[in-house]
Amino acid sequence: MSDLIPFDQREGFIWHDGNFVKWNEAKVHVLNHGLHYASCVFEGERIYNGKIFKCNEHSIRLHASANMIGFDIPFSVEELNAAKKEAAFKQNITDGYMRAFSWRGSEKMAISAQENKIHVAIACWPWPPYYSEEARRAGLKLKFARYKRPSPETAPTSSKAAGLYMICTISKHEAEREGYNDALMLDYRGFLAEATGANLFLVMKNGELHTPLPDCFLNGITRQTVIDLARKRGIKTVERHIKPEEFSDAIDAFLTGSAAEITRIGSIEDKHNYPTPSQMTLDLMKDYNELVRA
Ligand SMILES: Cc1ncc(COP(=O)(O)O)c(C=O)c1O
Repeated sequence: MSDLIPFDQREGFIWHDGNFVKWNEAKVHVLNHGLHYASCVFEGERIYNGKIFKCNEHSIRLHASANMIGFDIPFSVEELNAAKKEAAFKQNITDGYMRAFSWRGSEKMAISAQENKIHVAIACWPWPPYYSEEARRAGLKLKFARYKRPSPETAPTSSKAAGLYMICTISKHEAEREGYNDALMLDYRGFLAEATGANLFLVMKNGELHTPLPDCFLNGITRQTVIDLARKRGIKTVERHIKPEEFSDAIDAFLTGSAAEITRIGSIEDKHNYPTPSQMTLDLMKDYNELVRA
């Protein structure tokens, strides 16, 4: 199935509130709270060799994200896991992407929507790597974003909530318009945070792996997996506040995410260049590729 087919015109089935419905009949009304007030949470997962990687962790996070924005998902983690597996099977996806999401419905269209029905849907589709072949070969070209990750006093920053992606889309669009692959976001204090949909790691000159402390952005499931893989190789990972100029103390850098997997960074504006992959990055990519298909 081509990427060019719009997502509302594809074939197959989508799990919607407990039942499978035909893909093009999985509809919501234009007046729904999720769309107007961003009361929506979601997960992005990958299926490798017919198995959903970290399926349970993603379902747990979907529940946690919903709780952070004030609602309970009306299906248990176990029910979501079973539905996701069934969705992949029904759609015949052995390698692809899975999107589970939940949102407030249409009963009330106002800021207060305490009693609105909570809906859940699960869709999956074949999906190539997140970044182009060329970008992955050369390393990503990144630009610093205009917007910063907000303080946890400003928003529920550890939820994977749709509202938090507004500044990601703006920043990524701006970067792409200027010929970059993605934008790199600082946090509200000016420390390095993450890209618009993936976490950040720096391979330091001293042989350590450094990564920003996730105290105002998503502590990605891939990020946690990579820290674990590094530990198994005896690599020391330091989680700390990192200043943007510290890219000069790194010999390599990469992004991690369910969609992005592990993707190397080639340059950051004209300030930092990492033309050659470090052995550490190559090793971790190999370990990750093996793990997801194990
Ligand atoms: C903003 C943001 N940060 C980080 C990540 C990485 O998270 P994970 O590894 O759990 O996919 C994602 C992807 O979901 C993301 O959208």
